[in-house]
Amino acid sequence: MAMLNFGGTEEKVVTREEFPLEKAREVLKDETIAVIGYGVQGPGQSLNLRDNGFNVIVGQRKGGASWDKAVKDGWVPGETLFPIEEAAERGTIIQYLLSDAAQIEVWPRIKPLLTDGKALYFSHGFGITYNERTKIVAPEGVDVILVAPKGSGTSLRRLFLEGRGLNSSYAIDQDATGRAYERAIALGIGVGSGYLFETDFKREVYSDLTGERGTLMGAIQGIFEAQYDVLRANGHSPSEAFNETVEELTQSLMPLVAENGMDWMYANCSTTAQRGALDWKDKFRDAVKPVFEDLYQSVASGEEAQRSIDSNSQKDYREKLEVELKELSDSEMWQAGRTVRKLRPENA
Ligand SMILES: NC(=O)c1ccc[n+]([C@@H]2O[C@H](COP(=O)([O-])OP(=O)(O)OC[C@H]3O[C@@H](n4cnc5c(N)ncnc54)[C@H](OP(=O)(O)O)[C@@H]3O)[C@@H](O)[C@H]2O)c1
Repeated sequence: MAMLNFGGTEEKVVTREEFPLEKAREVLKDETIAVIGYGVQGPGQSLNLRDNGFNVIVGQRKGGASWDKAVKDGWVPGETLFPIEEAAERGTIIQYLLSDAAQIEVWPRIKPLLTDGKALYFSHGFGITYNERTKIVAPEGVDVILVAPKGSGTSLRRLFLEGRGLNSSYAIDQDATGRAYERAIALGIGVGSGYLFETDFKREVYSDLTGERGTLMGAIQGIFEAQYDVLRANGHSPSEAFNETVEELTQSLMPLVAENGMDWMYANCSTTAQRGALDWKDKFRDAVKPVFEDLYQSVASGEEAQRSIDSNSQKDYREKLEVELKELSDSEMWQAGRTVRKLRPENA
C-alpha cells in the first residue's frame, strides 16, 4: 500500500504494480468466487475474473434474459452457472451483485449459506450501511468486503479488453478471517481495477448516491435542460442548442478534460471563452451549492435510500419508470441528440 499525495491530502492507495495479478491469483488460489447476479456489474466482474485466471462461477435466477446472457457469454449450466442458492453454497467468496432492491429480497435465502470463513463482497455500501432498512446483517464468521468500480460494468469490461481499467474503492467492514484485506485487494485487482483507494461502506454509499444524483447524472441533465430551454426560448434552432449544450461538451471538451483536466482546458481555449467561464463559474457554483447540501443531507439521513427501497418494491415500479424514461427520451433535446449522432461523420 502506498501513501500518495492528492493536492496536499495524503491517501492510501493500492496500484497494480505493488499488487500484481500474480499475487492476486496466489491469494485467491483456493477460493471459488461466486458472482451472484448477471445484470450490469455481474458480467463485467465475472468475465474479467475468468479471463484473469480465477476460479469463478455465476449464480443467476433461471428463466430471464440475464440467465440467457450468461449462457451466451460462455457460462455452462451445472458447471459454472447455477441458480443463486447453489452458487452461494459452492462459493467461498460471494460477490453479491444483484440490484440493491433484489439484495434485500434474496438476503434471507443467502444468509444461511454464509458459513464461517467465507467472504461476502459488495460493490456498493447500500445494503450494509442502511441495514436498519435492508435487514442485511452478515453472520459474525464471515469477512464483509467491498470493491466498487467507479463506472458501469460495461465500461469495466470494455476497458479491460482494451488493456485499461476503471479505478475502484475498497473497504473492509468485518474481518473475521484476518484475510479480509488481502481478499478485497486481490478481488479488486482481479476484476480489472486501475488503482484502488480506501473507503468505508458508509462513505462509499454517501459519495455514490450524491455523485449519481449530482454531477454524474441528475445535476448534469438539469443543467443541460436549463441551457437548452433558454437557447430554444430565444429562437435558437435545435441543432444550435444541442451542439452548444451537449455535442461540443461530449465530443470535443470532455475527452480533453479526461486527458488533461479542466484547468488545462481553461488555459487552452479562446480568451473570450476563458474570460466568460472564469466570470460565470462562481455564479453557477453558488447557485447549485445549496442544492448539493440538501442532497447530501437527504443521503445522510437515509431518505434517499428509503425512497429507492420504497419505489423499487412497488409492483408497478417498472411500468412507472418506463413512463418517466420515455418522457426524457421523447424530449426535444434528446430527439435532437439522436439526429445529431446520426449525422456524425463516422455514422454518415
Ligand atoms: N450498474 C453499475 O454499473 C454499477 C456500478 C457500480 C456498482 N454497482 C453496484 O453493483 C451491484 C449490482 O448492480 P447492477 O447495476 O449490476 O445490478 P442490476 O443490473 O440491476 O442487477 C440485476 C440483477 O439482479 C437480478 N435480480 C433482480 N431482481 C431479482 C429478484 N427479485 N430475485 C433474484 N434476482 C433478481 C437480475 O436478474 P434478472 O435479470 O433475472 O432480473 C440481475 O441478475 C449493486 O450493488 C450496484 O449498486 C453497479
